Amino acid sequence: MKLSDADFEILRDFIYNTCGMFFTIQKKYFVESRVAKRMEKLSIRQHGEYIRSLRNGVAGSAELKQLLNDLTTNETFFFRNPPQLKALENQLLPEVATPKEKIGFRKLRIWSAGSSSGEEVYTLAMVLLERRESLLNRWTFEIVGTDINDEVLAKAREGVFNSYSVRHVPDLYMRKYFRKESSERYVISPEVKKLVNFQHLNLYDDNKMIFMKTFDFIFCANVLIYFDTASKSKVVQHFYNNLQPYGYFFVGQSESLHGVSDKFKTVHFPGGFAYKK
Ligand SMILES: C[S@@+](CC[C@H](N)C(=O)[O-])C[C@H]1O[C@@H](n2cnc3c(N)ncnc32)[C@H](O)[C@@H]1O
Repeated sequence: MKLSDADFEILRDFIYNTCGMFFTIQKKYFVESRVAKRMEKLSIRQHGEYIRSLRNGVAGSAELKQLLNDLTTNETFFFRNPPQLKALENQLLPEVATPKEKIGFRKLRIWSAGSSSGEEVYTLAMVLLERRESLLNRWTFEIVGTDINDEVLAKAREGVFNSYSVRHVPDLYMRKYFRKESSERYVISPEVKKLVNFQHLNLYDDNKMIFMKTFDFIFCANVLIYFDTASKSKVVQHFYNNLQPYGYFFVGQSESLHGVSDKFKTVHFPGGFAYKK
């Protein structure tokens, strides 16, 4: 059944006000197809009835979760942004860790916001482990991955990946940190797994965002591309508040905070940049 422009606008605004993702009219057919899938599951025939079910108290919030699972784009893979990882490993980790070490504080906290199925989180954990001998001896690490989509979070917690996800993992990391069970099943090692945890978090939920405190590094890559400028600004302000004064904030390869926030300073490194408080 065709989604009318009026019903599309109601759904668009409802989704926007819940999670900050903004679907322009060009995305109407995408929204229509995802809504159709949900309506079929619920044996609902009219869009009006589906919209009412979304607004219907507890049941509505469960349905909204399901719809958001279907609307989010979860594309991700290991070692997605090599220049960023190189800069972290060789430049930013020493810069942040050395003064901490001097005052005897050997703990690093990293947040991957919009972590999808966990590839970014596990990549960061492996990079830290590789620096354990040379720089981070006797340090503890806490790497938190958060996402709005429960299905990808379950996958992240499982820690089993396919060949597409691991295709850019360097050989050394592959040998040390994965167990290959078949050509489509790569299991992350317990040593890496114990450094990470995954939580459900809607980045648009101010009441929850204020508790994500004191991170040394925050990554929010390939997430805010689905937000409009106003919702990006709101979320980025939380990242600013939740970052340590010496911390760094990273976005995806083709993203920037231009027009979103002028609070951060840009720090350039070969092949990329990061934001500093
Ligand atoms: C394309 S993936 C990015 C994964 C990873 N950061 C990377 O760069 O490979 C985007 C993720 O952002 C999540 N997301 C979208 N809107 C969100 C929101 N309001 N709160 C939390 N996560 C959100 C989606 O569920 C999805 O898993």
